[in-house]
Amino acid sequence: MIKRIFFLFILVGTCGCMHRELHEVGLVTNKAMVVSAHPLASAVGAEIMKQGGNAADAAVAVQFALAVVYPDAGNIGGGGFLVLRQQDGSTAALDYREKAPAAARPDMYLNEEGEVIEGLSEKGHMAAGVPGTVDGMIKLHARYGSLPWAMLVQPAIDLAANGFPLTQKEARKLNDYRLDFIRYSSIRPEFILKDNWEEGDTLRLGELAQVLERIRDQGRAGFYAGTTADLIAAEMKRGGGLITKEDLAAYEAIWREPISGKYENYNVISMPPPSSGGIALLQLLHITQNYPVAEWGLHTAPSAHLKIEAERRVYADRAKHLGDPDYYDVPVRGLLDTAYIRRSMADFSPGKASDSDKIAPGVPVPPESPNTTHYSIVDPAGNAVSVTTTLNSSYGAKTFVAGAQFLLNNEMDDFSIKPGYPNSYGLIGGEANAIAPGKRMLSSMTPTILEKDGKLFMVVGSMGGSTIITTVYQIILNVTAHGLPMQGAVNAGRFHHQWKPDWVLSEWGALGMKTSLSLWWKGHKIVPKPEGGIGRAAGILVLPNGKLEGGADPRGDDAAAGF
Ligand code: DON
Repeated sequence: MIKRIFFLFILVGTCGCMHRELHEVGLVTNKAMVVSAHPLASAVGAEIMKQGGNAADAAVAVQFALAVVYPDAGNIGGGGFLVLRQQDGSTAALDYREKAPAAARPDMYLNEEGEVIEGLSEKGHMAAGVPGTVDGMIKLHARYGSLPWAMLVQPAIDLAANGFPLTQKEARKLNDYRLDFIRYSSIRPEFILKDNWEEGDTLRLGELAQVLERIRDQGRAGFYAGTTADLIAAEMKRGGGLITKEDLAAYEAIWREPISGKYENYNVISMPPPSSGGIALLQLLHITQNYPVAEWGLHTAPSAHLKIEAERRVYADRAKHLGDPDYYDVPVRGLLDTAYIRRSMADFSPGKASDSDKIAPGVPVPPESPNTTHYSIVDPAGNAVSVTTTLNSSYGAKTFVAGAQFLLNNEMDDFSIKPGYPNSYGLIGGEANAIAPGKRMLSSMTPTILEKDGKLFMVVGSMGGSTIITTVYQIILNVTAHGLPMQGAVNAGRFHHQWKPDWVLSEWGALGMKTSLSLWWKGHKIVPKPEGGIGRAAGILVLPNGKLEGGADPRGDDAAAGF
């Protein structure tokens, strides 16, 4: 009873009004657009396309620019996933996810009693996987780039060397994480030049500019060998981390076949394992298309209830069946099988919340033969790139590579470090996502592209850990089923269920009083997201007249730019 009163109390709290405009239309351009987490990075991408670069060129330039102006998640010490669609309709997916170092072991975060050592997979040198970003960008450029490599890295070098003004949000975050930076770096990071950053202060990153110059001049060898590799290996030695020069030399980003499938009259193209994003998104959309959500309307009790119940079931599957396909046989076809998806909703009741303890991951049909920050780009020729890239947590491991001024990721925490033990997003897993040397940790990143009638329709993705998948899912529905413009769809309030913990995480006021009470009555536990919003998305919609509409997330400093 006390529990129910507690949840009623917080439920009422979540009912405050959301003021974000659902019918707001974002920046509209004629030919080309970039939407990213930072105005300076979006401007860099747009400028590259003005100079004749294509979407892949712009993606490389934006990735490196974000590594400077958005150190929270932009990176060269992390990794990411990219989905692209060329103007001729061909598609590809690039996996530049970090890998476990060769010395990694399944029990590396457990003490002698087999208990998890709190924080070890989340902060400091031991939390870092072998970075994939630089090789990812090199592979992208080699296959799809049109402008010279040096031209794409140069804008980031200029930003780092000349400095750039901090936004209010970034200044505050740098101050908030100051003690962590000092604690988890082996040498006091030069990054911490000031005790108290303020909006408009100029941040100059001279050593990072030098690393970027090496990447500009030597390509892969500028990061995975020579001076930069020496600096990373030395940092690891000083701080007790595992990444060696051999790990760096062995790292390769991989081209993979995207996950694609139909939803209504759209074709959805998204990221395959080792991200869970594409499979989970398609499962969610396939469930949804069996119900009249458009008729039910946005954020009404029946539509929110259906979405929550679909999310609960899909995340149960994620926990059991998804991991790095190079190490674990992910039953991709089985998970997307139409009959399997229908069966997963067999116990769905429109009037009552399910109990996550009674929802077991399904037994998918076996395969016929023997699985953060987002930016979206469309170029003047109609090529599209959807990229989600990350250090995992804000500022990753909080560990700077001394002499190189960049942060290392804490992506190792995305592995299941002990069966059933929740990671920093509360996600649990087992064998499929156990640690192994050289293995890629399971991700939720969901860079996605939608086609309609064989033509480019939408480019979308988000940050937000476990909430990425449900954010992308809800934005797609906001446009396709609920008729919102791109900007309104990104603005709209979000909610999230991930099977366990068994509650609905909701942005303040996302669902409104009537829907929240109705959901509570059905038995859902609604918990407000303590700070910030759920996810931060970047979308581009191709309008019927061929123009492009950007959806830049008001939850951050995000901006659209184009022409
Ligand atoms: O790959 C993943 O799923 C996570 N490392 C993503 C992290 C993320 O989105 C952080 N943003 N809140």
